[in-house]
Amino acid sequence: MKFFIDSANIDEIREAASLGILDGVTTNPSLVAKEGKNFRQLLDEILELVNGPISAEVVSTDRDGILVEARELAAIHPNIVVKVPLIREGLKAVRQLTDEGIKTNVTLCFSPTQALLAAKAGATYISPFIGRLDDISIDGMELIQQIVTIYQNYNFGTQVLAASIRHPLHVVQAAMMGADVATIPFKIIDMMFMHPLTESGLQKFLDDWKKNEAKLV
Ligand code: G3P
Repeated sequence: MKFFIDSANIDEIREAASLGILDGVTTNPSLVAKEGKNFRQLLDEILELVNGPISAEVVSTDRDGILVEARELAAIHPNIVVKVPLIREGLKAVRQLTDEGIKTNVTLCFSPTQALLAAKAGATYISPFIGRLDDISIDGMELIQQIVTIYQNYNFGTQVLAASIRHPLHVVQAAMMGADVATIPFKIIDMMFMHPLTESGLQKFLDDWKKNEAKLV
C-alpha cells in the first residue's frame, strides 16, 4: 500500500518525508488556499521534498479549460498527477489526457458508478472520499470495498486512492480491503505511531536501564 500525505503545508510534507514512509502527496484547491502561497511556487517546493506522484488539481469545469490547465500542470514535472473532478466534462478531459500519457487523479468520487466511469475513461487514480460520506451517514468504507471489487473483476488499471481519511482506522480498513493508496492528513499519520503500551514500555526500559547504571559501550 502506498502512503500519500493529504496536505499542501511544506512543514508537514517535510516532516512526513523525513519519516521514510511517504510515497507521494495530494493537494486540493482548499488545502492550497489555506497556505496563502503562489500555487506554482508551492508545487516547486513540494517537488523538491518528495520524489513521487504529486496531485495538483485543475479548477476549470469544461473539457477544454481542464485540458489547458492539465497540460500546463503536467509540463511542470513528470511526477505531477493532474487532479480532475468527477463530472462529465472532467471525464471527457481524462480520456484525452490518458491518451496523451498524462497521469490523472479523478477526485470527488462518492459512488461505484462514478468509479466505474473513471476507470473506463482511463484514470490513473480514483479518489473516493470516505470521511465526507461518513459525515452524511453513508458508510465510506463500503464504497472502497465496492470499487476494489469492481476493479478486480475487470482488471482495471486505475488505482484506488482512499481519500478524505479522518482517523487511523480508515487507513487500516482501506489496507484490509486492498486499496492501492491512502492519502492521509499529517495529524492522522502522527496518530498511527501512537500506542500507550509502546510509551509505557519504553519508559520502563529506560528507567530500569538507569537504575542498573548500565552502559551501552
Ligand atoms: O484531498 C481530498 C480529500 O482527502 C479531502 O479530505 O477531509 O477535506 O474531506 P476532506
